[in-house]
Amino acid sequence: IEPRVEFVNFNIIGDERGSLISLENSHNIGFDIKRMYYIYGTQKNISRGFHAHKKLKQLLIAVSGTVDIYCEYQNVKQTFSLNSPSIGLIIEGPVWRIMQNFSEDSVLIVLADGFYDENDYIREYDHFLCETQKGYKNA
Ligand code: TYD
Repeated sequence: IEPRVEFVNFNIIGDERGSLISLENSHNIGFDIKRMYYIYGTQKNISRGFHAHKKLKQLLIAVSGTVDIYCEYQNVKQTFSLNSPSIGLIIEGPVWRIMQNFSEDSVLIVLADGFYDENDYIREYDHFLCETQKGYKNA
């Protein structure tokens, strides 16, 4: 699939008590959710990720704290900062990603359209470059 990285703004259902955000398959998420995981308690100066996926679609949300998501695909090399529970970052397909600068209170929720599958990972950067160049040439 084509690589894609995009911010999405969620509708906040707020009232005098506070805020609520509801995410539903295909309404405000472009895929069916099969898995959800979260990353929290990340130690200081730790970066995670350093991989791409072949097909997986994911939606990342910093429900607490802040985190930077560095993404690399085609000619794009860009850092997307997540700093609000009402903002999501869609990452689809072969995008090299690094999660870094986790705040101490950071809780990063990830929704995905597939189960955990090591075969969908590209963990070698050189392999990622090679695979994607091949892919774009054939596209
Ligand atoms: P890892 O790929 O290192 O996480 P990150 O991309 O955040 O750096 O995953 C850490 C471990 O957790 C690794 O052994 C795989 C396992 N894992 C699961 O079992 N299920 C999952 O959904 C995920 C994301 C990871």
